[in-house]
Parts: sequence; structure tokens; C-alpha cells
Amino acid sequence: MRSVLRFDDAAGLSIPRAPHEQQRCLLYVHIPFCESLCPYCSFHRFELDEPRAREYFAALSREILMYRDLGYRFTGMYVGGGTPTIMLEPLLDIIGFARSELGISEISVETNPNHVCPEYLEPLRAAGINRLSVGVQSFDDMILRAIGRYEKYGSGQETCDRLQQAAGMFDTLNIDLIFNMPLQSARSLKRDLELIDRLNIDQVTFYPLMTAPSVAARLASSLGPISYKKEKRLYRLILEHMRGTFHSSTAWCFSRKPAMIDEYIIDYDSYVGAGSGAFGYFNNCIYINTFNLNEYIERVRAGLFPTGLVKQFTRRETLHYTLLMKLFATELPKSFFETDQGKDVREALRAELAALRLYGALRETPDSFVLTDRGRYLWVMAMREFFIAVDTMRDVCRRQAGAGSNQPDHIF
Ligand SMILES: C[S@@+](CC[C@H](N)C(=O)[O-])C[C@H]1O[C@@H](n2cnc3c(N)ncnc32)[C@H](O)[C@@H]1O
Ligand code: SF4
Repeated sequence: MRSVLRFDDAAGLSIPRAPHEQQRCLLYVHIPFCESLCPYCSFHRFELDEPRAREYFAALSREILMYRDLGYRFTGMYVGGGTPTIMLEPLLDIIGFARSELGISEISVETNPNHVCPEYLEPLRAAGINRLSVGVQSFDDMILRAIGRYEKYGSGQETCDRLQQAAGMFDTLNIDLIFNMPLQSARSLKRDLELIDRLNIDQVTFYPLMTAPSVAARLASSLGPISYKKEKRLYRLILEHMRGTFHSSTAWCFSRKPAMIDEYIIDYDSYVGAGSGAFGYFNNCIYINTFNLNEYIERVRAGLFPTGLVKQFTRRETLHYTLLMKLFATELPKSFFETDQGKDVREALRAELAALRLYGALRETPDSFVLTDRGRYLWVMAMREFFIAVDTMRDVCRRQAGAGSNQPDHIF
């Protein structure tokens, strides 16, 4: 992954018009502001500066319009962060704009536990949000204290109480948890799993701890050294517990009902990224927007796309990416191999598919290929490495943004 994710400078690059036969496409919108920064987090985020954030939101709408003017149409929108709900009013404006101007009807928004309260929930529901995803990370107060979230977002019990208030308000109420934190024991994870049974939530995403070099260094000094030794065991506990009442949406996301909105990278074959530090994947290319906030705002104001880096996938890389994402959903219907892309995958990756079956990662049913438990953990490791490669790329982008920036204290 690290060798594949090598990028070229995209300064001056023009984004092509949308193809006539556009694939189902998602609009990813990045809000890179948080109240304060968590030590394990490798995403692109700054401490909130309100006047700057207002300018940012204005630039964001312009960038989205630039894509619309090139013919891009979107079925869904995912607002991620940072903390998208950090300034509710401009967020609601963007959502209203996406619904009225772009006709988007399926909307997912990320938030933090302190915003799970009526003052935020009511307007978000009224704005037509379908999926609310709350970053819980752990219900264990010892872990919450160690990662600096107890003081900011409350105890595990307070978060449970807040989640109960949000139950039933959205089509999907998701929580994010992280497993394999240095301080996490099997007992602590089991307590979290038992709590989930008592909560009225629709979906749980268990991210394995992902540590790009910058995160590993920060975490080692606050939580202790990172190790993957217990990851497999913890994942087994999750799988055994969750499969009783939840359906697997991906190798690490569990939903009460099938067909709930979850990870957009598997639900959508292409996505456009808007906002500083956003990633997009379309036309077989990954595009990364500049991480420098000043540059982002200035370029968009000048009517230019803020793309900083681009990577064109070779045919083989596209096929590998497709296989990785499709099987992340744990089951690949055989009908996929009857599509153009599916035929390519089957022919070109015959050896890979055979190796996966030999390894015991794939099981064949009359209608599909299904990941076995061995295969699921293999996919957890593969996706973890994929995201670490993406996070490592973010480290590079931050360094580049810092080099050309007059706001060094905003670059991490
Ligand atoms: C980037 S955050 C944005 C939403 C919100 N601010 C929050 O804290 O949950 C989305 C999710 O990414 C996950 N995440 C962040 N850093 C991670 C890391 N180093 N390893 C695994 N998951 C991580 C967390 O579970 C988090 O909830
Ligand atoms: S985990 Fe969420 S709140 Fe914490 S720094 Fe990352 S984006 Fe911000």
C-alpha cells in the first residue's frame, strides 16, 4: 500500500468534466476543526478558529459548485472531520444547499458525544440527516481519561445516556469504537460489548487502532508502545459477540439491519472530496486537496480547484483497489463478476483469488464469495494497512502544507 500510494504534484491540474455515464458518486465534505485535538487521531484537523472557519465554509460551498458546474452529480453526501457539528449554523447551510441545489437525499454526519443533546439533535434531524455517527472510542473511563476525552466529552455512562436520547431519531445511529489501544484489556472490551447490547443503537464501527508514524510517536509517550499482538484476539471477541444480533456491513462495521448506510468507500465506486485535506477517488485517480487552509481558501476564491496531489492508478492497481474494497464488505455476489469491472477483476486477479481460497480466506456459496473468519481478520489487517498508508500520506501533506504556510501553529 505504501509503495502504491505515491503521489504527483497536482498544482495547476484541471479536474476533468464528469463522464457522460457517471457512476454512482458520493460527495465527501471535510470539516477540519475540533474543540481540541486527540492524541491518537491522524485525520486532518485544527483547533477551531471561528472567523477562519466561516471563511472556510464559504469556500467549501464554492468548491462544491465548481464540481456541479463540471457536470458531477451526487446521490449521497458524507460530512466527516474533524468535528462537522462544531459550528452548527454553517453546517446546516451546507446541508440545505446540498439538498436544494444538488438534489442529495442521503446524508451522513460525524459528531462527538458532547453534541448528542437536543440543541444539536433536533436541528440535525430537521435538516434531514439520515445517519449520525458518534465518536465514542471506548466506554471505559480509564481509557477515556488516557486519551483526553473524559474531560472533554464526559464519562462512558454520560455518553450512554446521551446516545439513548438520540435513539430512533435517525435512520442509522452509529457509534465508532477503537480496539487495540495500548491500555485496552480483553475485560474492558467485553464490558463495552455488553453495554452495546443494552443500547438502542443501529450500528457499531470498530476501528483497529491505526498508527501512522506521527500517531505512533504521540501515543507511545501518552499511552505506551503500540503492539499488534492482542489485535487478533480482541477482534475475535468482537466478532463472536456482534454476530449474535448484528449483521456484518464490513469486516469491522456491524449493523442491526442489512443495507444500512456505512462506509462510503465500499458503497460508492467513486467519490469526490471537497474541503482542505479531503481525498477523492474518481476517474481511476486519487485526488488530495491541499492541507494548507490559507491556500485552500485563496485558490477556491480564485476559481481554482484546490487539489494538491494526484495519483493515477494503473489498471492493475485499480483492480487490486476494487477487490480490496469489495471484499471488505465480507461478501462479494457472483453477479459482480458479470459486470465489466467484475470480469476484469476475475480474469486479471485469478492468482490472487486462488491464493485467498487456498489460505482459507474465502468460501464459495452458489451466489457469492464470502470471507471466512480467517479472511475477515486478514481484511482487518489489510484495511488497517491501507488506512495507515493514507494517514502516512497525510503526514507528508501536513509537512508540505507547513513548509509553504504562514500559520505553522495550525499544522500538526
Ligand atoms: C476522525 S473522527 C471524526 C469524528 C469525531 N470528531 C470523533 O472524534 O469521533 C472519526 C473516527 O475515526 C476514528 N479514528 C481516529 N483516529 C483513529 C486511529 N488512529 N485509529 C483508529 N481509528 C481512529 C475514531 O473512531 C473516530 O471516531
Ligand atoms: S478524534 Fe475527532 S475530536 Fe479527536 S481530534 Fe480527531 S477528529 Fe477531532
